Amino acid sequence: MATQTVAVVLAGGTGERMGAGRPKQLMEVGGRTILARAIAAFDAHPGVGEVVVVMAAGHLRAAAAVAAPFRKVTAVIEGGETRTASTVAALGALDGRPDGIRVLFHDAARPFVDAAVIDRVLGALDGHDAVAVGVPASDTMVVVEDGLVVSMPPRATMSRFQTPQGFRLGTVRKAYELALADPELRATDDCGIVHRYLPDVPIRVVAGSERNLKVTQPLDVVVAEHLATEDET
Ligand code: CTP
Ligand code: MG
Repeated sequence: MATQTVAVVLAGGTGERMGAGRPKQLMEVGGRTILARAIAAFDAHPGVGEVVVVMAAGHLRAAAAVAAPFRKVTAVIEGGETRTASTVAALGALDGRPDGIRVLFHDAARPFVDAAVIDRVLGALDGHDAVAVGVPASDTMVVVEDGLVVSMPPRATMSRFQTPQGFRLGTVRKAYELALADPELRATDDCGIVHRYLPDVPIRVVAGSERNLKVTQPLDVVVAEHLATEDET
């Protein structure tokens, strides 16, 4: 049977905020690279048939070495300058696949995504073409412009997005086609592209997990080391 679900692990960034001198996804936490942990979660999930890894130029060989033990990884490809460009590269690698298959985009920088989160995304894709993972905001959220508060949305309505974000391939492909034709294109994630360019497509939000943090700056590594210890107990 042809693959029905492809997970794309986005590792095309270079980790400027981490400042480790190499892409943060190649750093080890609990004795294993962040990239390997992210790949492993999808490789081990029975609902995922295939994993594609997108890596920063110049680090493809390192990524291929990390990916080698995982049997579902079918390609390690070069990303682009921005996360959006890296997603576009992954969509290019999926050219010719049917519109109806499911594709999950995951930040390689989130090594503690677990099977329950992936289950919720896959489950919601049965009824929706776009699915995001959110956790409730614990801080008060404000819209600030030029150093002044413009509005204070009620906290109970506010969520922080994580990944994976899941889509029917045809939907996300169409959204990116429209986005790439827009000279003012800007977005920080794939749901942002769907929301902006296909505003009639509902985006279902399912529960994420506080463990599913994005390792972004040095303090996050301290938390990640702790979470890695919990995994082993
Ligand atoms: N990413 C990507 N291609 C890019 C930029 C980012 O695939 N050109 C990926 C990163 O590797 C990461 C995820 O998108 O897994 C989220 O990005 P972020 O946390 O911003 O990682 P970096 O861009 O590497 O970090 P920084 O912004 O601090 O440089
Ligand atoms: Mg970045």
